[in-house]
Amino acid sequence: MSAATAGQGAVLSGRRVVLGVGGSIAAYKAASLARLLVGVGAQVRVVLTGAAARFVGPALFAGLTGEPVATDLFEPRTIDHIALARWADAGLVAPATADLLARAALGLADDYLTTWLLAFPGPVAFAPAMNHRMWEQPAVRRAVATLRADGRHLIGPVYGPLGAPGEGEGHGRLAEPEAIVAALASLLAPRAPTRFAGRRVVVTAGPTREPLDAVRFLSNRSSGRMGFALAEALRDRGAAVTVVRGPVALADPPRVRVLGVETALEMREAVRAEATGAAAVFAAAAVSDWRARAVAPGKWKRGGAAERTIELVANPDILAELGRDPQGTVLVGFAAEAGGDLAEARRKLDAKGLHLIVHNDVLHPDAGFEVETNRVTILHRDGAVAEVGPLHKRAVAEAIVDAAERWLPE
Ligand code: CTP
Repeated sequence: MSAATAGQGAVLSGRRVVLGVGGSIAAYKAASLARLLVGVGAQVRVVLTGAAARFVGPALFAGLTGEPVATDLFEPRTIDHIALARWADAGLVAPATADLLARAALGLADDYLTTWLLAFPGPVAFAPAMNHRMWEQPAVRRAVATLRADGRHLIGPVYGPLGAPGEGEGHGRLAEPEAIVAALASLLAPRAPTRFAGRRVVVTAGPTREPLDAVRFLSNRSSGRMGFALAEALRDRGAAVTVVRGPVALADPPRVRVLGVETALEMREAVRAEATGAAAVFAAAAVSDWRARAVAPGKWKRGGAAERTIELVANPDILAELGRDPQGTVLVGFAAEAGGDLAEARRKLDAKGLHLIVHNDVLHPDAGFEVETNRVTILHRDGAVAEVGPLHKRAVAEAIVDAAERWLPE
């Protein structure tokens, strides 16, 4: 058993999980999920929607879990939804279809699963799976935003091959069952009294965008996911979180203060103002190192020119500036490096005056930009080193916040 699964076992062992399965081709993966959950010691009761039961049968789940399976609200032998809501410690809806997300967001109670969701007051995570065009629909975005605002958790979806032949790849694939179990474990992990409770923290996230002319800019691939996951982890530990973020495609994390900026200079101003008196700063933004010396007021015209030279000047290093004037704030940096060598991360830790730095190898397929998972190495200023992942970014965020707590005064 790896360290990660041992940790999940400790969290999930003996926990009572309702696994709600929606009607997607990915429903077959719910069987692996049920097996993994049972494997780490959870008690699992499965609820199938009517559509799910057309993809996978109740006998499969009854066999895997040793527990009764619910499908029909009006089936007299089925345990009633109120009793099942009392029984459960947590809910996991996987795969969650667009239809299921919409019904849950509206608070409908038109089948067993949605009725159970309404009756259950505890933590629930949804792991969506659908065609990427469906995932991008405004109606689906609204449902997801509502669920998040209601305190529900989302795990994935991830980018990858989609279910049906010829469907291709896209952002809509169900997160891998192992990653879902890891994320659920981190959601349910008992939070020791945390030093971050009541403290003010700042998180930078996403890329910055440096204009070249009226329509063009210089930027990078940062999605903002790692910063948002950190912000949510800190929020859930009771910290007052301010996120300073560049332009990202993701919806802002609920129940945190978000300051949107565009350029590195704007990010610097916002961070400087917010960092004063803050307990910690987590610099997860991929700040553009350069900006154009002069921004053309209009649009560059091609005008037959075969070449164009852009003169760049260095942006200030926001984190290093804080490190030069530390004021007792715990400083956490990120080092996105192409390769596994930690020397460069250690150099940045020293040069920027940080307490810890999170190294990630952006060449690794399950780490870095634009993916849901991350694997990182956390380097402390006193030489301590910890490897984390590959795990869902939220689980990685929990490990980073744990590491930062070490440096926070009582
Ligand atoms: N950082 C920052 N301001 C900058 C550049 C980086 O605050 N202008 C922060 C990042 O948020 C990150 C850390 O410094 O936490 C390291 O960023 P990175 O881009 O990896 O390092 P650089 O110092 O820019 O080095 P290089 O790009 O040469 O690898």
